[in-house]
Amino acid sequence: MFQNIRKAVIPAAGFGTRMLPFTKAVPKELIPLVDKPVIQYVVEEAIASGLDDILLILSSGKEAVLEHFQAAPELETRLKETGKNELLAQISSIGKGAKISCVYQEELDGLGGAVKLAENFCNGEYFAVLLGDTILDSNGDVPVTGQLIEAYKQVGTPVVAVEAVPAANISSYGNVGGIWKSENIMQVDAMVEKPSPAEALSDLAVASRYVLSPEIFPLLHRTKRGKGNEIQLTDAIRELIPSGSLHACKINGRRYDLGSKAGFIAANIEFALRDAELSSSISKKLAASCPEIAAAISNMKE
Ligand code: UTP
Repeated sequence: MFQNIRKAVIPAAGFGTRMLPFTKAVPKELIPLVDKPVIQYVVEEAIASGLDDILLILSSGKEAVLEHFQAAPELETRLKETGKNELLAQISSIGKGAKISCVYQEELDGLGGAVKLAENFCNGEYFAVLLGDTILDSNGDVPVTGQLIEAYKQVGTPVVAVEAVPAANISSYGNVGGIWKSENIMQVDAMVEKPSPAEALSDLAVASRYVLSPEIFPLLHRTKRGKGNEIQLTDAIRELIPSGSLHACKINGRRYDLGSKAGFIAANIEFALRDAELSSSISKKLAASCPEIAAAISNMKE
């Protein structure tokens, strides 16, 4: 009998040093993808996956992340008065469908340290972890966290999301190896963090989403600071392997890491060009200054 998973933990406390100086005063989880902050996509994925109790892990100075999900009565009144009904509906629905609370990570001791703070919130239940700076676009299919929950219902253990990446890129990610139990579910027998291409166990990179059991908390309490002098979530998760209690789910979806400059810019171009109206107005604006880019965009549309 498997648990009905309802809780989501969204770590969003980190410094975001890769996006400095932008992130000096603005949380990186509020970086926009076209017109929505990245954390809104993440919360929407959690809600669409059936999770209705969400904990944001924040740090001092990142209060605006929680504020984004709170009511904005003055703004809503103004939108109503000015007849901007579509915008009003959009703004007033942000975060609806879940209870959203937060806890503050006082010492930024890594992703493992952030997840450890969710112990009381999880209250002995299975839960999902969604990194707050990364979008996983399932292109209309079941949201990626929902795919992990389905996998959990098949195997009854914690599950990490993985995606295939080119060999040259594997050293940027956590990497797993193991035995395939079905087309997309692997029983993990080894997990390494940021291997060189020669050390890689497979082409499968851990992809920012996890379903974990409360068993992770005692493991996190025991986990010493590792790489980067941080408590690594991967180090605690690896402890589940000897008992056969870890699976990986090869997801149907694409990862967009908005926490890196190249990832942020590439994702914005791609998502903007998906929008017919926006892509035509971008082409017009670029036509004068950058004719090569405008031509490339119009080729893409054909
Ligand atoms: P990253 O590994 O991207 O770290 O965190 P970071 O510090 O935010 O960013 P860089 O590498 O310095 O640019 C992945 C997710 O985990 C959260 C981050 O906010 C991000 O959403 N995180 C990271 C925490 O919540 N606490 C931490 O101590 C570290």
